[in-house]
Amino acid sequence: MKYQPVRGTHDIFGLEIDQYNIIVKKINELARIYNFKEIKTPIFESTELFSKPLGDQSDVVLKEMYTFLDRNKDSLTLRPEYTTPMIRAAISNNLLKQLPCKLYGIGSMFRRERPQKGRYRQFNQINFENFGSTDSFADVELILLANNFIKSILPHLNFKLYLNSLGDRETLNKYKKQLSNYLLKYKKELSEDSKDKIIKNPIRILDSKNKNDKDIISAAPAIIEFLSKDALNQFNEIKNILKNFNIKFEEKYSLVRGLDYYCHTVFEFKTEDLGTQDTIIGGGRYDGLVSLLGGNDISGVGWAGGVERIMMLMKKTLNENSEIHLAIIDEKFKSYGFEIYKFLTDNQIPVYWNYKYNLKKSLSISNTSKASFIIIIGEDEYNKKKCTIKNLKSGEQKMLHTSELINSIKNA
Ligand code: HAM
Repeated sequence: MKYQPVRGTHDIFGLEIDQYNIIVKKINELARIYNFKEIKTPIFESTELFSKPLGDQSDVVLKEMYTFLDRNKDSLTLRPEYTTPMIRAAISNNLLKQLPCKLYGIGSMFRRERPQKGRYRQFNQINFENFGSTDSFADVELILLANNFIKSILPHLNFKLYLNSLGDRETLNKYKKQLSNYLLKYKKELSEDSKDKIIKNPIRILDSKNKNDKDIISAAPAIIEFLSKDALNQFNEIKNILKNFNIKFEEKYSLVRGLDYYCHTVFEFKTEDLGTQDTIIGGGRYDGLVSLLGGNDISGVGWAGGVERIMMLMKKTLNENSEIHLAIIDEKFKSYGFEIYKFLTDNQIPVYWNYKYNLKKSLSISNTSKASFIIIIGEDEYNKKKCTIKNLKSGEQKMLHTSELINSIKNA
């Protein structure tokens, strides 16, 4: 029996693990610059932590959580997202004494969704949260961070930032009622999926992908018309700051996000290069979530990005294997070859030792794995205490002293 990864899960290796590590490195760099502190939380938490805050009518809670009973009958859930565990951890460890508290984390999330391109049941998220500030600049700072991250990791990507405000809780509840009333008029025409949500969760119908639903929604009341003066001012302030700092965005009143805890600013970074699962980063502000989880009544704002989706977009740019292979053409030169190997690895140059002692076999391995360089060691090289380096892409080769090897590789 040959085991395969469980449906919706995947192994990360080869080029993908390089991409994954590049993303992690970039995130750590940006987090240091913007002063967010890293936190790692357990992969499972008590089920309660998620069910109420994410919304008992949200798809995540209704259909997607991996929930199981522990041997002592406690209900546990593999984390479907990072915001609630981070708040739990900030409260458990007394990190909210000094505000604002800025945290970030990278790790696996679990949702039992229907797998498709860019949608997995176990996937990795980058997550940034800022707890304890209602300042519009906190929203802008996070948007700026996300924008900078995408631009630096995917410099050629065409992407768009969409922005909306959901107002405060009361406004949102008022809006939901109005929306339900409007949608009830079209009940017969709506998709089966949307029909179920008219009363319980009408705002989720706003991002339905069904063509008929979309037509009905296009004439639905927009949340912007319901915003209080304060909420509207806050939204305008954020838009003005973004404009002043040249961060391009588009207002999208149907943008509501999939989890229930949001209010005021919500945003998504999307690209057409991903297919249907087109959101790279999504986030927003949440009031009342920290207090719901047992903390003080403080606000928060944050976002999460899907690592696998970013990796899919990197694929187009990062497809070269920069490996250097060593080809020792006879066992007689093994020890000299090992000297070169040691010299390179001591100098932090990654190199692959294949134990073959045969040029033809070595070249075949290097070609199969699309290595960039091969360092050849034979009689001539051994006698002259040199080595030959061949660029496998251009075919160019030269014989060098070991001391020249590093510069030659670095400048290639
Ligand atoms: P979310 O929109 O559910 O938000 O997920 C954020 C990102 O995670 C998505 O935009 C997508 O890139 C990625 N993602 C989500 N589900 C999957 C999946 N099944 N497979 C692959 N990638 C996926 C949140 O999780 C919120 N906690 C974000 C947040 C943080 N809001 C405030 N702070």
